[in-house]
Amino acid sequence: MANTSGLTRLYPMVQINKGTWEIDEFDAASIYLLEGEEKAMLIDTGMGIGDLRGAVEMITDKPLVVVHSHGHIDHTGNSRQFEEVWTHPADQWMPVPEALERRRFDTEHIAQRQKGSLGAPFNLFNLYPYDIDVDLRPMDDLPMPVVHDLYDGQQFDLGGRIVTVYECPGHTAGEVVFLDETKRMLFAGDALNYNLLLGAVPLEDTLKAMKRIRGMSDRYDGIWNGHHDFRALGAPLDDDCLENVIALLEEAVKGNITYCEVPSFWGQPMPLRRRGGEDGGDPFAAMGKTYLRKGRNFVQIHSRYFGKKEDK
Ligand SMILES: [Fe+2]
Repeated sequence: MANTSGLTRLYPMVQINKGTWEIDEFDAASIYLLEGEEKAMLIDTGMGIGDLRGAVEMITDKPLVVVHSHGHIDHTGNSRQFEEVWTHPADQWMPVPEALERRRFDTEHIAQRQKGSLGAPFNLFNLYPYDIDVDLRPMDDLPMPVVHDLYDGQQFDLGGRIVTVYECPGHTAGEVVFLDETKRMLFAGDALNYNLLLGAVPLEDTLKAMKRIRGMSDRYDGIWNGHHDFRALGAPLDDDCLENVIALLEEAVKGNITYCEVPSFWGQPMPLRRRGGEDGGDPFAAMGKTYLRKGRNFVQIHSRYFGKKEDK
């Protein structure tokens, strides 16, 4: 195992109920730990700040099943701390971890977004007990974990606690959610969020998947997503989140699009009109997205899955 001395294990975390924790990777991402009688499950591994494995082992010594809600860099970063991980095949092409500089950039900006402190100096990070130059490390020298496939309907028996995997493509093609019927909790990764990025698959497929999640609502009491912006740490999303996304998608697949200004990836309003990244503008805007809003929900959709051409 890699030498992790000197790395922080002091993640903010909340115990949601007996055997379930939300670990906050310093506002970069939310990681969930589910403990059964025989095994524990770790849902996502964050951006890769600090000693996540060490933090988990302070809570449980049960054998770990490490699963990814999807392949984005803020959910797979510390995966090389583990020998085996489970990822949907459609997301296995993404690097684990992503390049250090990209993770550093994202770490700084996501933390700013979640603190609502855009424009604040980067000494914001003094709030947290980590040193970005030490705790966010390359890890390229560590072996890759063995990667197993996640698939729809797959079940993990943690001992008195069964977790079922359901595909929910849209944010990425390999996005999945995890249903824990024992504790009546649904863990959604980035499948659902008040500031939701979609467009990895046709919208009709995402709408169908969202409706299936809604159809399971008699089996869970709350949905916990992969970031705790827009909600308190440990608290589930409010009930309007899924309903608003379904309503937005229903309109979008009919072609009823109303462009709106939404918070960007980094918490700033995005321009209504697309602009290129080459002029120093938002590099994500160059990807060509459409922005929609309903209530508190903002949805950004990659334009390739709209019938209409993106404005230029
Ligand atoms: Fe994501």
